[in-house]
Amino acid sequence: MFDSGFGGLTVARATIDLLPGEDLVYLGDTARYPYGAKPQEEVLSHAVEIAEFLVQEFDIKYLVVACNTAAAAALTHLQDLLPLPVMGVIEPGVRATLAATETGRVAVIGTVGTIGSGAYPEAFGKIDAMIDVTACACPGFVEFVERGNTEGQQVGILAERLLAPVVEAHVDTLLLGCTHYPYLARTIAQVMGQSVVLVSSADETAFALADDLERLGLKHPDQPRAGAHRFISSGDERAFAQLGSRLLGPELVDAQRWEPNVS
Ligand code: DGL
Repeated sequence: MFDSGFGGLTVARATIDLLPGEDLVYLGDTARYPYGAKPQEEVLSHAVEIAEFLVQEFDIKYLVVACNTAAAAALTHLQDLLPLPVMGVIEPGVRATLAATETGRVAVIGTVGTIGSGAYPEAFGKIDAMIDVTACACPGFVEFVERGNTEGQQVGILAERLLAPVVEAHVDTLLLGCTHYPYLARTIAQVMGQSVVLVSSADETAFALADDLERLGLKHPDQPRAGAHRFISSGDERAFAQLGSRLLGPELVDAQRWEPNVS
């Protein structure tokens, strides 16, 4: 799986917990993050480069695009291009949000790229044309996570400002449509109040992946077993391992460096 940086580690955590017997390679494109404000074509070209590297180097059996921005820009393209199943984070989160809402009034927050792409309203509309979706970009959230600042006054003030339209929309369910955002869940929950259910696209993707591996007969044949976990970064690998182990947990001991062709 891959993400622009540390956000996809929320998907990796859920996947390791749910599928402890599977081997996992995670690539964080920290040298080129954030993806959120980049043009779609640029994100698409990074996604293709990373996907081809993972396929060639590690002979992967399944690819998870653990980044909403990259999924919005590149999922269909990757599904057409690669000779293996590819899953994004958008549809699993949408399905879980629809299952959670009682009022039919929901919101999704994400990067400027994800929200601007219209991928979420489109995905909601495909399953339930009557759903009322407020989509709101939260520029700045990702940068707090990448610096390891997941709580505190500054991020709290930013959250109050960015989430004001969501509070005003009186939704009962809020989908965290960026894999970085579960690290800010406490701050987001404080602003939204206890009555709003938060859905993590990261957790839902891990559940969908587990179902898909089972359905396609792709689960590792030797069960139970302890899967191997490997972490790769296009930026400083030591810095990646340091913050990454804090965010993911003990499975992230060290990281290996990967040099992308395009900067
Ligand atoms: N984690 C990525 C996502 O889910 C976005 C991070 C970024 O802007 O680079 O959209």
